[in-house]
Amino acid sequence: MKVLNLGSLNIDKTYTVDHFAETGETIQATAYEEFCGGKGLNQSIALAKAGAHVFHAGCIGQDGAVLLETLEKAGVKTELVRKNHGPSGHAVIQVKRDGENKIIIFGGANSHVTPEYIDQVLKHFNRGDILLLQNEISNVPYAIEQAKEKGLTVVFNPSPMSSSIEHYNLLRTDYFILNEVEGRKLADTHTEDAQEILQELRKKYPKSIFVLTLGDKGSYYADESIMFHQEIFPSDVIDTTGAGDTFTGYFLAGIAHQRTPLEAMRYASLASSLSVSRHGASPSIPDRAEVCRKMDETKKVDK
Ligand code: RIB
Repeated sequence: MKVLNLGSLNIDKTYTVDHFAETGETIQATAYEEFCGGKGLNQSIALAKAGAHVFHAGCIGQDGAVLLETLEKAGVKTELVRKNHGPSGHAVIQVKRDGENKIIIFGGANSHVTPEYIDQVLKHFNRGDILLLQNEISNVPYAIEQAKEKGLTVVFNPSPMSSSIEHYNLLRTDYFILNEVEGRKLADTHTEDAQEILQELRKKYPKSIFVLTLGDKGSYYADESIMFHQEIFPSDVIDTTGAGDTFTGYFLAGIAHQRTPLEAMRYASLASSLSVSRHGASPSIPDRAEVCRKMDETKKVDK
């Protein structure tokens, strides 16, 4: 089974700050680094590191060679990525000492994903393959429609959440992987209770499977027959950027390998806890050997 991730590729300009800049305030960063990122790229890297057979598709600009090299080094297939004129997408990220972040993205080449390009990409995939999408590229609804017509399993991470999502035909989505804020908006509810958010989501999209991540409160899995909670694996928090992407990639790799939802959630949770203990988005994603080693250690402690 192949996984196609049609997603964003960004250059992350990351500033370490003591506090987030307030309205009208100029602040001095204590460190500046550039990383490869984008929810798409991060999730492809997490999938590949978790052992999935993943193809990345999306658009880079003239400055995007480093994005391709980073994907390839992690084992992601990149022959479908298109190079456009103009700049690649980028993100301006403030990271505080407690690991929290604020992110601004500029679409750049990510905004030039056209229906014609999506058609060309989808020709390489067949019934039973998986399409993963986030909400950082253009023409997401078109990709969902066309992929379903071909019999692919559609997985949607509605991040960043935008008002345009209301107009997508999300009844055709097989899996949603989303955080609490996104879940609340998609369910159109104000409840703080994660199980109630999931109940509302399942009412709205009864055929879909949901994975709801809750930061340090863990995560939930819900489908038509089961709902369960997965605890976090505690770790020292340095930078939370890309933690959700790590979770998504590891969870989906588990599903692609036909692991049980319980196993897929457990590995995803452990992988994302390792990622928050390091700087950067894509560089913080652990490889499978490290995740399996840590999992064995936790099992020994459990006994
Ligand atoms: O999820 C983290 C990512 O969000 C960053 O890498 C940044 O590029 C933005 O897309």
